[in-house]
Amino acid sequence: MDARERLIVALDLPSVKAAESMVSKLGESASFYKIGYQLAYAGGLSFAAGLIAAGKKVFLDLKLHDIGNTVGKGVESVAQLGATFLTVHAYPQTIKAAVAAKSNSGLKILAVTVLTSYDDSDLFEAGYKLGVNALVTQRAAQARAAGADGLVCSAEEAANLRKIVGPGMALVTPGIRPAGSSRDDQKRIMTPAKAIAAGADYLVVGRPIVEAADPKAAADAIVTEIKQAKS
Ligand code: C5P
Repeated sequence: MDARERLIVALDLPSVKAAESMVSKLGESASFYKIGYQLAYAGGLSFAAGLIAAGKKVFLDLKLHDIGNTVGKGVESVAQLGATFLTVHAYPQTIKAAVAAKSNSGLKILAVTVLTSYDDSDLFEAGYKLGVNALVTQRAAQARAAGADGLVCSAEEAANLRKIVGPGMALVTPGIRPAGSSRDDQKRIMTPAKAIAAGADYLVVGRPIVEAADPKAAADAIVTEIKQAKS
């Protein structure tokens, strides 16, 4: 896979106008964009259709989780839009419904194991008895069994998860921080080169690119780091 296609830029921006401006600043430096809650609920879904029509790939990070019927209907709509990736929370019932609904559309279902802003104490506070490592391991195995195409996970978990899920599943890792950049609210971070070396297939990068003084230069530097990394 081309290094540039392994970088997914998180368009965590407040408006379609801001997103359009970022996409035009990035030009050919980015080919894959992630659209999450903030932009999706501000006109981002029609914007996503435009990006797809312009030849870009789109990852809709909507982290679906509901009763199976509702998840399935939502996934059918996302498949029609032409998105490449869609996230659902890694609960077996939710993943099975999403996988059944995507049918042979080309949409890939990514399961979110444990959010990268969570550590053990956050999980215990939320009522879980398992810590991050144990819960991620359990959810990864369940996601594979339920037919998910890939996992969203921290790069720190990638090497271990590869052993659990094998070579067929895509590992998509947020929490990426080039050396020297701010960690923001991420608790489990890794540099682009280390994430690739750990077995990540795709790197999701938001603030280090969209908040950079020169987003295109920031994206190019990450792509160069991906190219030079040993996977
Ligand atoms: O700005 P930053 O690079 O931290 O953005 C990371 C992106 O990845 C955000 O859009 C965030 O919602 C998303 N994400 C994450 N951790 C997960 C799943 C998604 O940080 N486990």
